[in-house]
This record gives sequence, structure tokens and C-alpha cells, in this order.
Amino acid sequence: MKNNLDKIAKDTNFFLKKFLNNQNNSELVSAMRYGLFPGGKKIRSKILVDIGSMLSVDYKTLIVIGAAVECIHAYSLIHDDLPCMDNDKMRRGKPSTHIKFGESTAVLAGNSLLTMAFEILTNYNLKLTEKTKINLIKKLSECAGYLGIAGGQYLDLSYEKKIISKKKIIEMEIKKTGKLFSFCSVAPAIIKKKNKKEIKFFENVGSNIGLLFQISDDLIDFKGNSKKAGKKTGKDKKKGKATLISLLGYSNAVKYCDRIIEDINNKFKKYGKNSQNIEETLNYILNRDK
Ligand code: IPE
Ligand code: IPE
Ligand code: MG
Ligand code: MG
Ligand code: MG
Repeated sequence: MKNNLDKIAKDTNFFLKKFLNNQNNSELVSAMRYGLFPGGKKIRSKILVDIGSMLSVDYKTLIVIGAAVECIHAYSLIHDDLPCMDNDKMRRGKPSTHIKFGESTAVLAGNSLLTMAFEILTNYNLKLTEKTKINLIKKLSECAGYLGIAGGQYLDLSYEKKIISKKKIIEMEIKKTGKLFSFCSVAPAIIKKKNKKEIKFFENVGSNIGLLFQISDDLIDFKGNSKKAGKKTGKDKKKGKATLISLLGYSNAVKYCDRIIEDINNKFKKYGKNSQNIEETLNYILNRDK
């Protein structure tokens, strides 16, 4: 599994480096590279490849779509660390982008990475029909904007230091993190022109994979080691973030994750042996320390 993840990270970075080499060099592009490359796990691309190979989508296509997703993810992290958001000075074991390049450049690097994702999806190297590209772009826009990351980040900040119900916490975590995973899960089904019911199936499973990912990120923040995680831990409690851990406690949050994994594995059973990779990835998500 680790080898597989490393290969996906390498192939994604290779594509993105080549793509960025075509842009004019500037301090802004340096900040974009800084936020994009060093240290990211590329777990969202792994989900795309796991589910894409289950549905027999070509690997190269999955890597290009994953590259677009990683741009949006990198943008969301650069902005997440800004003083007006989580105000975090360390990311992936290094100073956050705004610490290194200044706030205004970090904001613009984030904006540029967000739009670059869509530029990548319109690239002629991506061998898909225009109709399919438009369907992918539509779905990705939904997952990144007010219905997804931006909307969820808004809720995350507005829930600080308040008592929030379980239902609302889950809804917020699905928006801020789950939706991008949902895109990764449904993109192969969009490419294969699956029917509405199947599209819904992959969207839902993907949202739950993302929810699992965010709860396990919250577990790392609660119990993890800052050096290993590459970012400060113990910060959610200090900021009064509403999480399942703050509401239900650590061990109940772990139990909740176990139930999500069991539920997803059951749903993928019908794909037989082909679902083995995704099963491994889910265990990795829960048991990682970074
Ligand atoms: C961290 O995401 C932020 C969350 C959405 C929880 P990752 O843990 O995927 O970050 P990198 O890309 O590996 O640094
Ligand atoms: C970030 O969640 C979610 C995003 C969409 C960026 P966190 O705020 O928990 O991520 P970390 O812990 O700073 O990486
Ligand atoms: Mg945050
Ligand atoms: Mg944060
Ligand atoms: Mg966190």
C-alpha cells in the first residue's frame, strides 16, 4: 500500500511539475510550488486510483484528474493556515506558505492553485470527451465552493467555541473535507457514464471516506505527535473547534470511524477482489500518524 501511494505521489508530482514549468517563473509561482509539492501524501489521488481501477479507468487519466484535485487541496491548506482562519505556522514540517512568502502572496497562490485545477481539466492531454470534461468540472466546482470546501470551512470557523450537535459536526466535516473525496470517488463513475443511481452511490461513499479522513485528522490533532504529523497538534482543543472528539470523546470517535469503515467495506463487497485496494487505503487513513 505504501509503495502504491508513493508511486501515485511521484506520478502526480511529475505531471504537476511539468505543468508548472510552462508558467512564467515568479515569486507567486514559487509560493504555488511551495504549497503544492513538499510532503503532501496525495491520499485523494489514491482514492481516485483505487476506485478508478475498480471501474477500469485508464491510470494516466486518473493521475491528471488527481493532479487537479491536489491543486484544490493545496489551495485549501494554504488558506486554512492563514491568520484569519486557523492561524497555523507549520505545515508538512515546514513554515506555512504565508510565513514563508507573506500573507498577500499566500492568498494569491491559493487562488491561483484553485483556478489551475480547472485549467488542468480542460487540458488537451486529458483524453476525454468535452461533455465528460464539463461534467467533471461541474462536479469539482460544487465540491470546492460554497457547497463544499469553502462552505465547510465557513461552518468550521463559525462553530468555534460553541456546542454543536453531532449531526451538524458531521455535516460540516463532510463539506470541508468529504466533498473533495466525494469528487474523487465519483469521477471514475462520471467518466464511465454510470446511471444516476450509481453516481449517487459513489458520491455518498466518497463523502463518507472524506468524513473518515477528517475524523482521523482530528484524532491525530488530539493524540498525535507534532513532529511526525508535520503540523502543530493539540490545536483544535485550544481553538475550541467543534469535532466528534470534543463532543463524544476520543474512544467514541474511534468507534465511529470503525463503523464508517465497516459500512464502506460492505458497500464495496459487490466489487469482489477489486475492492481490496480501497479496503487497505481505509485502514491506512485511520491508522496513519501524519
Ligand atoms: C490535511 O489533509 C487537511 C485535511 C483536510 C484534514 P492531508 O492530511 O491530506 O494533507 P497532506 O496533503 O497530506 O499534507
Ligand atoms: C482542514 O481541516 C480542512 C480543509 C478543508 C483544509 P483542519 O484545519 O483540521 O486541517 P489541519 O489539521 O490544519 O491540516
Ligand atoms: Mg481548519
Ligand atoms: Mg487547520
Ligand atoms: Mg486538523
